[in-house]
Amino acid sequence: MKNCNKNKHDKLDFSLRPKKLEDFVGQENVKNNLKVFIAASKKRNEPLDHCLFFAPSGLGKTTLSYIIAKEMGGNLKITSGPTIEKIGDLAAILSNLKVGDVFFIDEIHRMVPTVEESLYSVMEDFQLDIMIGKGPSAKTIKLPIPQFTLIGATTRAGLISNPLRNRFGIIEHLDFYSIKELQYIVKRSATLINIDIDEEASKEIAKRARGTPRIVNRLLKRVRDFADIKDCKISKNIAVEALNSLDIDTAGLNRIDRLILKILLEKFDGGPVGIKTIATILSEDLETVTDIYEPYLIKLGFISRTSRGRIITNEGKQHIKNNNN
Ligand SMILES: Nc1ncnc2c1ncn2[C@@H]1O[C@H](COP(=O)(O)OP(=O)(O)OP(=O)(O)O)[C@@H](O)[C@H]1O
Ligand SMILES: [Mg+2]
Repeated sequence: MKNCNKNKHDKLDFSLRPKKLEDFVGQENVKNNLKVFIAASKKRNEPLDHCLFFAPSGLGKTTLSYIIAKEMGGNLKITSGPTIEKIGDLAAILSNLKVGDVFFIDEIHRMVPTVEESLYSVMEDFQLDIMIGKGPSAKTIKLPIPQFTLIGATTRAGLISNPLRNRFGIIEHLDFYSIKELQYIVKRSATLINIDIDEEASKEIAKRARGTPRIVNRLLKRVRDFADIKDCKISKNIAVEALNSLDIDTAGLNRIDRLILKILLEKFDGGPVGIKTIATILSEDLETVTDIYEPYLIKLGFISRTSRGRIITNEGKQHIKNNNN
């Protein structure tokens, strides 16, 4: 077998996450807005306003937060909604922040309600109200918090309460990426992990990546494995062979995606079917179906949501007809 490592240092673990706004591919509107907001707050010597990012998984919410912290010259503290169980946990994190730091709360829609409510005064007035004691002798102390930027990320726009949403000054939605943008990401990543790739091959991988940078990078690494044991270069043939072996079809759908379409079509005559029923038949949890599988099937126009449940569209039926395995 040929040795494909051209360099002594294996770059396998080199991070593919862009570190600067100009390396962040696509999402032009969001990027342009952020550039203005970052430049303006730097000019005023103020922290950036709190930001809320909505997007399906793998589209760049965490990446953008790293970039913002770096551009603002602050540190990034990362946590996720459900891990902040008590107000004391929140107090511990907030009191360790410095002016200009960025505090990132992933899955912000899953915060404990009491913690979420105590965040309101922190976001507005940079002070945390803490209750000491119980009953008539209980009193509230106000803990001052350094001026920081809160970044909230969520895959579920509909689950953010209004009071929380209204306290964010910057609200941005990230969309699925175009094939061109994903192709650009594949080529950039291929350079970083040190493998040659054909134009046609990068397009093939991009086409099957569900509009998602995380998936495009994952597919690239798997296709690279196939290339490494053959001729050290990713050609279209190798890409097609690898992607077919991974059971990813020409629309980027995997076995479970196709199963969802087949359940709708064959078990329920096209629908409508409640999403809970679909999840039960798949033995998957509801969130996985609504967060991972459903958004891309809807984006492709293969299923649609109605008030009575999900239905398969004509395009979805056609896809199953062409890819029935
Ligand atoms: N705009 C982009 N340009 C280039 N690469 C990107 C871009 N967005 C994301 N990526 C790549 O995709 C990977 C996943 O992105 P990220 O972790 O930011 O997604 P996320 O939206 O936070 O997902 P999740 O909801 O699952 O936490 C990153 O590690 C990075 O390599
Ligand atoms: Mg993330």
